[in-house]
Amino acid sequence: MSLVHETDYGTPASKSSEMVTLTIDGQSVTVPAGTSIMRAAMDIGTQVPKLCATDSVDAFGSCRLCLVEIQGRPGTPASCTTPVGNGMMVSTQTERLKQIRKGVMELYISDHPLDCLTCAANGDCELQDMAGAVGLRDVRYGYDGENHTKQAKDESNPYFTFDPSKCIVCSRCVRACEEVQGTFALTIQGRGFDSKVSAGMAEPFVDSECVSCGACVQACPTATLSEKSVIDIGVPEHSVVTTCAYCGVGCSFKAEMRGEELVRMVPYKDGKANRGHSCVKGRFAWGYANHRERILKPMIRESIDQPWREVTWDVAIERVASEFKRLQAKHGRLAIGGITSSRCTNEETYLVQKLVRGGFGNNNVDTCARVCHSPTGYGLRTAFGTSAGTQDFDSVEHTDVVLIIGANPTDAHPVFASRMKKRLRQGAKLIVIDPRRIDMVRMPHIEAQYHLPLRPGTNAAILNAIAHVVVTEGLVNERFVRDYCDLSAFEHWASFVSEPQNSPETVGLMTGVSAEAIRGAARLYASGKNSAIYYGLGVTEHSQGTTAVMALANLAMATGNLGRPGVGVNPLRGQNNVQGSCDMGSFPHELSGYRHISDDATRTMFEKLWGRPLDAEPGLRIPNMFDAAIDGTFKGLYVQGEDILQSDPNTKHVKAALAAMECVVVQDLFLNETANYAHIFLPGSTFLEKDGTFTNAERRINRVRKVMTPKNGMADWEITLAIAKAMGFEMPYNHPSEIMDEIARLTPTFAGVSFDLLDKVGSVQWPCNEKAPLGTPVMHIGGFARGKGNFMITEYVPTDEKVGPRFPLLLTTGRILSQYNVGAQTRRTDNVLWHEEDVLEIHPHDAEERGVRDGDWVKLDSRAGGTALRARITDRVAPGVVYTTFHHPDTQANVVTTEYSDWATNCPEYKVTAVQVSPSNGPSEWQREYNDQAEHSRRIAKVAAE
Ligand code: SF4
Ligand code: SF4
Ligand code: SF4
Ligand code: FES
Repeated sequence: MSLVHETDYGTPASKSSEMVTLTIDGQSVTVPAGTSIMRAAMDIGTQVPKLCATDSVDAFGSCRLCLVEIQGRPGTPASCTTPVGNGMMVSTQTERLKQIRKGVMELYISDHPLDCLTCAANGDCELQDMAGAVGLRDVRYGYDGENHTKQAKDESNPYFTFDPSKCIVCSRCVRACEEVQGTFALTIQGRGFDSKVSAGMAEPFVDSECVSCGACVQACPTATLSEKSVIDIGVPEHSVVTTCAYCGVGCSFKAEMRGEELVRMVPYKDGKANRGHSCVKGRFAWGYANHRERILKPMIRESIDQPWREVTWDVAIERVASEFKRLQAKHGRLAIGGITSSRCTNEETYLVQKLVRGGFGNNNVDTCARVCHSPTGYGLRTAFGTSAGTQDFDSVEHTDVVLIIGANPTDAHPVFASRMKKRLRQGAKLIVIDPRRIDMVRMPHIEAQYHLPLRPGTNAAILNAIAHVVVTEGLVNERFVRDYCDLSAFEHWASFVSEPQNSPETVGLMTGVSAEAIRGAARLYASGKNSAIYYGLGVTEHSQGTTAVMALANLAMATGNLGRPGVGVNPLRGQNNVQGSCDMGSFPHELSGYRHISDDATRTMFEKLWGRPLDAEPGLRIPNMFDAAIDGTFKGLYVQGEDILQSDPNTKHVKAALAAMECVVVQDLFLNETANYAHIFLPGSTFLEKDGTFTNAERRINRVRKVMTPKNGMADWEITLAIAKAMGFEMPYNHPSEIMDEIARLTPTFAGVSFDLLDKVGSVQWPCNEKAPLGTPVMHIGGFARGKGNFMITEYVPTDEKVGPRFPLLLTTGRILSQYNVGAQTRRTDNVLWHEEDVLEIHPHDAEERGVRDGDWVKLDSRAGGTALRARITDRVAPGVVYTTFHHPDTQANVVTTEYSDWATNCPEYKVTAVQVSPSNGPSEWQREYNDQAEHSRRIAKVAAE
């Protein structure tokens, strides 16, 4: 194995369709107009020496190393900034050019520390390479002149260092931060000899606006910006391309290794979801894989008040099987079930649902998507015929109006957010519908045309009002509706949204948004050449989550914004494989590919292949499992890779349900909160330790490749296989690729997918089958999957969760960039530096009324429960609204959230909870107890590790 190296073409590709032919060093080359001479030369294998150019950012032309001669033109233009021309005759290597380049390199090296042998970038440094490429042998000026080699390092960032003594002021970092990441944290300060790179207002990196995405580190051609892990471990020697296991963007990375040790994760330029970019989580927050609290041996205990006992894998698996068999013998076939994880691979998820359906003999299987995007599946399927987003991420490059609702892309989907920001900087318009002023509303070089800060829980109302404007102001795309949609459904819907109760004036009063803003946003969305909707959990996690998804689909159909690049309805999926876990048949009523379990033909196909009869009745959803456990009819649960106690709503209820079960089996990396109620703990493996696939938010199936041996001795898929075998249900697989082969055989949308294909083409977006052998980037071109697009009536029904004198504020929740969901992984990395605790955002007016100052501890109470956390006073939230994240178990925001849920899918209403906020002296009693226990466990883990 060796390091994977992508070609650096020096400048970005031109998108022109016009072609130009020129001659470079006697060779003819034809490239798109607008291509740089440097890039055209690379096309014929000629690498012009360069330092300030790299193909992730626009050319800058500052280093003067890439000069060429062009016949008939005076001077020596820079090949990175000079576009090709028809008939041009270019020379890249002449005596004159050689001398100039040598001279340029001499100047650079005369002001550079000569510590190559001990430098962390030795062997991975473009300056070193270029010195060799231009044949530099000595430096005529010596090294004693005025120089920059004594400047102090900035080591403030936990993941990378900035050593200005090695900086050549090429500005690649500055341009990467601006163009790729869109944060504008870096500048070149000073002029001439005094020019230097500066973070923020000449601050340490960690105090600047820097979000640690790593783009500057990747762009830096010297050791100035270097990963600390490379400095500690050394330059990697081989790499494996795999997929980030955090969010639904699904970024491809090169896991760069020394032996079995991971040195760094470098975003993969050929990754079609991320195109070479990353965020702080995927790039740097992988240290949890080696964290000392990771459990590596199976453990069992007779009851949850007893200490854990380490056992062998055989004993643990046998215990799972015998307990589940015992429970079914005593309480019936339906007394047990399983929960699949959106953190695990498609293959692992498929196996868990297969185990439940074929091995347990029931359909009591559900997934954590229940609590996030289940309304997306239901809503989009009803409208379009497919339970997935309509576009690929590249689509945003063609968008003229971006509508973001209930999503916070810069925190939750940062790499896609960077692409979106780029498009907005190029001139696309932006509408944000969110109770909170998310960063996208105003940031460097971006300002939303409309921000509608609606009251939590009123999405469906405001979307109906936007539709009202579209219909009553004649903004419907009649041709699209006539050609592709069900006309009678459209007419019914059009007359519904035209009713006065859906007018912006009426809805404005309910939502707290001015009618004028609603009308303006509606006109902007409807009149865009290409308008695209991006939404997140702020849409789905409501009692009307499915209604709002359908309302978005209605809007896109009515305005003709479907079926081509630049448009669409795009759910920004939370977890890395939430799309996949739904695709794989994790819901109790559906087999893989969203086919109902009651459909005889489909069931028979699975029965034949699996050799087991399958129950035609849908099984229990997660909330129903909890209710049944409390009622005493549901006794055993297998939970793979999901901390249901922390992530599901109404923690008190979940605790009671888990405590009522006789056998809870948790398979995870760490002893999570759910494991406090478990009887058997099976140590899980990280994404670095297994093979498989994840499917991202754009339906892209990406390969996950094993880069190291599982530290626990077994990959997750092997554990499920062992349980199935112990229960007498043999599953004949030797490798996850064989599981995918079975999925492809049984699932029409996956029919063409195989590991071989993915290894060959990189990734594909489903449907991938005979009709679309290389997948489907944009869906519903020339017609909808279901036939005619279906307009649904989306009447606004206010949630039962109401504010009142006891609970006068509305709580809504979300995520922050540096942490991920319940924080099990990110809390075990240096990312805690940026978010040590969850805080409560509260408007100055509400804080003043309660005598709360910034940083004070406050009690947060709802009718479900209470917690305490510190207050942050900010006008990002409107008066009457408070906001927090849910990353820390010692806060457990879900202690407060209620059991209300979406009418169609039971997705919990996390985004609307009536609460009261009052001053407090510190953590509540249960939090203090929790912290004591956690400290105790940490000490035990530390002693064990030592
Ligand atoms: S890490 Fe990212 S955000 Fe920070 S300075 Fe570098 S490019 Fe900018
Ligand atoms: S830090 Fe690196 S990329 Fe930035 S100007 Fe210096 S050498 Fe160039
Ligand atoms: S954007 Fe998501 S998938 Fe990409 S690196 Fe960040 S967490 Fe990973
Ligand atoms: S690479 Fe062209 S001027 Fe630096």
